[in-house]
Formats: sequence, structure tokens, C-alpha cells
Amino acid sequence: MADYKIDRYAVIGNPIAHSKSPVIHRAFAKQTRQQLSYTAELVEIGQVDEFVNNFAQSNGKGLNVTVPFKLDAFALATDLTDRAQRAGAVNTLTLKDNKIFGDTTDGIGLLNDLMQNHQQVIKNKNILVVGAGGAVRGVLEPLLLESPGNLTVVNRTVEKARQLAEDFSVFGNITACGFDELNKQQFDIIINGTSASLSGDLPPLPNDCFTKNACAYDMMYAKQPTVFMQWAQQQGADVILDGLGMLVEQAAEAFFIWRGLRPQTQDIIQLLRTSD
Ligand code: ATR
Repeated sequence: MADYKIDRYAVIGNPIAHSKSPVIHRAFAKQTRQQLSYTAELVEIGQVDEFVNNFAQSNGKGLNVTVPFKLDAFALATDLTDRAQRAGAVNTLTLKDNKIFGDTTDGIGLLNDLMQNHQQVIKNKNILVVGAGGAVRGVLEPLLLESPGNLTVVNRTVEKARQLAEDFSVFGNITACGFDELNKQQFDIIINGTSASLSGDLPPLPNDCFTKNACAYDMMYAKQPTVFMQWAQQQGADVILDGLGMLVEQAAEAFFIWRGLRPQTQDIIQLLRTSD
């Protein structure tokens, strides 16, 4: 019999076996001396609703939500933060008072990793965000709130980039284009938010699009540098980062939402970097 006296948390996804969230959250709990359990739960497609309700009834207090359930979680939430509403997706659910609170911490995770862990300045910089899917939608608002000089969204299907630029223009200078319109432009930070790295593909970015001392950030991570990171190296980017820090930082923000405590992230990032 599971012990339901302890506050329960979990990450839900499909597949879920390789999720690092249990390791991260258990480390946070240990560090902040919180009594809780955190597990990875495989949920069948179409059964998120049932799972969440059962979990809430067995002392479940919060869930992280990963692929492919971020839209289901959005639909299921009884209350949404403004940022989740605008991102159109939810990665953190809080189960409280018979309600389901939905939030998204991906954007703040990226910002914390870029700005705090890696001292990147966004203000007045020329930023290129590659991709226009759900992952990118989740990071545009916090990026724009840091007042970049300009933020360009480039996407294979240019119409999707244009839609994002329209939806987020209230937050700052944002423009959209296709890859063929990038020639001769240079950027201080290029963020790869496509899913291309998953299949070992490189988005069709032109040569010479980094400024001096530029930063390349792949929101994906893998044991080996992604093709985007390898390309950035060849192109002379100065700082080249993967999404491991973003993963830990989005988890830290979720932990803060649930427990009101902000865990230190450096040790766990190091641990994950050196373990397999
Ligand atoms: P996610 O939720 O991870 O963002 P998504 O909504 O399916 O997933 O979006 C995937 C993004 O990666 C899209 O911007 C997609 O481009 P299209 O909108 O043109 O499909 C982009 N993408 C995927 N594979 C790509 C590739 N090989 N080259 C360039 N862009 C790619």
C-alpha cells in the first residue's frame, strides 16, 4: 500500500521512463527538507482527466506535465495563470481545494538559465528564436519582457511564426520571417526551439548569422552536443548551451509554486551533467 500521508507529486507523460524530473524534485525536497514523494507516471493517451482526479483524491498535490499532455493539462485546469493562458499550455498543475491550478514554468526556466546561470544579457540584444510550435509559444512572453532590441521568430512554416508575432506583439518588438529571409542578418542570441534536434536535423539557418561573442541555446538536450550546437560551434558562437539548465530551472519554479521554497539548482545541474 502506498503511503498517502505524505504529499504526493509526480510527472505525467507518455513515454515517461527517461524523465529526469523525479531525480530533480527528490533532490530539491532533500535540500529544502520537505517531506514529499515524487514519481514518474505513465498515463495513457486520453486518460489524463481520470488520472489527475484519482491522484488528487490520493493526497496528490501537484503534477508536472510533459509531452504529449501539455494541452490536455491546459484544458483540464480550472484556473490558469495569465502566463499559462498566453502560452496556451500547462506544465505544472497544483491540486488544491478541489481545484486544478495550471501554470507554465518553461519560459521562466529558460530565462533563469540564460540570465542567472550563464550571465546572458537580453536587454537591447538582437535575438533569433527558431521554431514556432508549443515550446516557442511558452518562452516568448518572458523573453520579450526582458526588452530585447528585437526578437525575430523564424519558422519553416512562416505563417505560424507570423501568428506568434501577432499574438505577442503587445510585449515588445517581435517580427517573424522564413529562413530564406535571414540572409545577412546577425544575432546576439539564437535559441533553437524546434524539435529538429530530436531527429538529428538542423534547421536551415544561413552561415554568418552570429555577432561577435554570441550565444547559441538549444532548448533540447542530449548526452552529446546536438547538431544545432555543433553547427553553432562551427559558426563561431562564443557561448553554446543546451536545455539541461532550463529543465532544472523550470522544475525549480514548479517546486516554488508547490512548496513556497526556491531550491538551489547548481548542484543538481552538475550532477545530471556528469551522470548518464
Ligand atoms: P513543440 O511542442 O516541441 O514546439 P511542435 O508544436 O510540433 O512541437 O513544433 C515543432 C517546431 O519545430 C515547429 O516550429 C516545426 O516547424 P513547422 O512549424 O514548420 O513544422 C519545427 N521543426 C521540426 N522539425 C524541423 C526541421 N527539421 N527543420 C526546421 N524546423 C523544424
